[in-house]
Amino acid sequence: MNELLSKLQIQTAHLFDLSPLRRLEKICFPLDAWPLMDMIGALSFPNIVRYKALWEGEMIAFIAGEIRYPSRTGWIATVCVHPDHRRKGIARTLISMTEEEMGQPRVRLTVRATNYAAINLYRADGYVEIDRWVKYYKGEEDAIVMEKIR
Ligand SMILES: CC(C)(COP(=O)(O)OP(=O)(O)OC[C@H]1O[C@@H](n2cnc3c(N)ncnc32)[C@H](O)[C@@H]1OP(=O)(O)O)[C@@H](O)C(=O)NCCC(=O)NCCS
Repeated sequence: MNELLSKLQIQTAHLFDLSPLRRLEKICFPLDAWPLMDMIGALSFPNIVRYKALWEGEMIAFIAGEIRYPSRTGWIATVCVHPDHRRKGIARTLISMTEEEMGQPRVRLTVRATNYAAINLYRADGYVEIDRWVKYYKGEEDAIVMEKIR
């Protein structure tokens, strides 16, 4: 834990983080890496909460959450942690910070039905499955929609 605290920094992400974010997304999402325009949007739109985690100065994790004010819902749009830094509680920390910053009573997200690591993470964090979107992802895999009421 001490090593974690001394080497890890969590900061708001900005447009100048685009290049490291593209590298990280390719590593974390071989099937679902975002198109460039979506990444630019995630790093610049005003209704998006975005954090990066740095390990010795290198971006090793990222999260973006979209605030949808009319429905008072926050959507976790993406969360990813570099494979070398998983199971250190980094995703859990980023999700908690993003939920807090979005400040909405309900948070939702979608996840590939076979992404058991992520589904475990969300369940452990209080999310429950509320819907299934058939063939939502590339490769025709279903999406599980999960929700947490805060
Ligand atoms: C899913 C992901 C974000 C988890 O990041 P992480 O920083 O390793 O997660 P954490 O260390 O915060 O894990 C918190 C809890 O989630 C669960 N969890 C996380 N990874 C898990 C795994 N591989 N298997 C089982 N449970 C897992 C555990 O309950 C864990 O708590 P524990 O370590 O005390 O047992 C990471 O594996 C990742 O980036 N995957 C690729 C991208 C992705 O799938 N993103 C989600 C898209 S919806």
